Amino acid sequence: MTLPPHPGVPPGIATLADYETAAQAHLEPKVWRHIQEGAGTERSLAENRAAFARWGFLPRALADLRGGGTGLTLFGHRHAAPLLLAPMAYQRLAHPDGELAVVRAAAALETGMVVSTLASMTLEQVADAGREAAAALGKPSPPLWFQLYLQPDRQDSLALVRRAEASGYEAIVLTVDAAIKPAGITLPAGVEAANLMGMHRIRHTAVPGGGIVLGTPLADTAPRWEDLEWLRSETRLPLLVKGMLLGGDAAQAVGCGADGLIISNHGGRVLDGVPSALDMLGAVADATGARVPLLMDGGVRTGSDVVKALALGASAVLLGRPQMHALAVAGMAGVAHAIHLLRTELEATMAQLGCGTLDAISSERLWAFDG
Ligand code: FNR
Repeated sequence: MTLPPHPGVPPGIATLADYETAAQAHLEPKVWRHIQEGAGTERSLAENRAAFARWGFLPRALADLRGGGTGLTLFGHRHAAPLLLAPMAYQRLAHPDGELAVVRAAAALETGMVVSTLASMTLEQVADAGREAAAALGKPSPPLWFQLYLQPDRQDSLALVRRAEASGYEAIVLTVDAAIKPAGITLPAGVEAANLMGMHRIRHTAVPGGGIVLGTPLADTAPRWEDLEWLRSETRLPLLVKGMLLGGDAAQAVGCGADGLIISNHGGRVLDGVPSALDMLGAVADATGARVPLLMDGGVRTGSDVVKALALGASAVLLGRPQMHALAVAGMAGVAHAIHLLRTELEATMAQLGCGTLDAISSERLWAFDG
């Protein structure tokens, strides 16, 4: 298949893996390591890819593909494909335009973006840039969701939620799996947590210098179930919880009023040894029934990965590190091109499988290589 030319994209890039390979030369070694690394021995990071490789396909012959498409509705908003951009901290580490480049690409490709609490542009700047880009292209504004890291003071968390509501964000994503994680990168000059400026107490999640955790403010202020209930009572926006792996937790979150879940192991960056989200999807789907949409992330790199996740119970997937790779290589054009590549792969895989619509994708189309 010949792709249309994308100005600014170097020749020879035809897959997300190509972007990953090309990105290293565009990034400072310490930034490259920060983006790529997983926690500990990186067993969970490796599992995120290995889990997809354990599945193959059983295509239906002679299926009727007429009138097919990849569109879906999530929380009342039409998405062109079951693919969103995962929340990523500090996108200016990869490109000076950072989140603004990403949201412009999201607007061009009508793709949802989850904007991180730790974005290096304010959530208002990102929303404005998305709206302006969509208007210039004559397209609807891209669905924007705000990812919340709860802050030590509830009024600070609430202020972030109110700002997101005022800026037209359509959902809140509460990330619950990164309250305590390995030390991160020392930010270079010019890259900062733009949304948190002016707060007097900011939640730093990193364990300082491998120090003790329990009994310190780090553990004592870690979010609890009562915080989820509180947040639910404070906003009418759809509320998703990101970073659960267990069916029991997922069911409890739905019981607390979560409208959706993002099954995730945070890209293998927090607790080494946890399974991949793909492997846990089935159990979470069983535990929650069809009560809320399940999304997943971790290791999604090809269109066939998207199909596998949907076949195992996901409504949509999110893309993490590839955003940073494409951003580093070619800014907005790179991210738009990467989304386009993934969507064309998704469509090709669906057509080859005999699935004209997302509804036609089911576990009957999967083959387990390991039996
Ligand atoms: C992340 N992730 C993340 N998650 C979140 O909820 N808030 C955040 O600010 C960040 N920041 C962040 C930075 C970097 C550099 C990485 C690699 C990851 C996790 C992210 O949303 C997602 O869960 C994983 O990245 C998905 O895995 P893949 O697609 O990177 O394999």
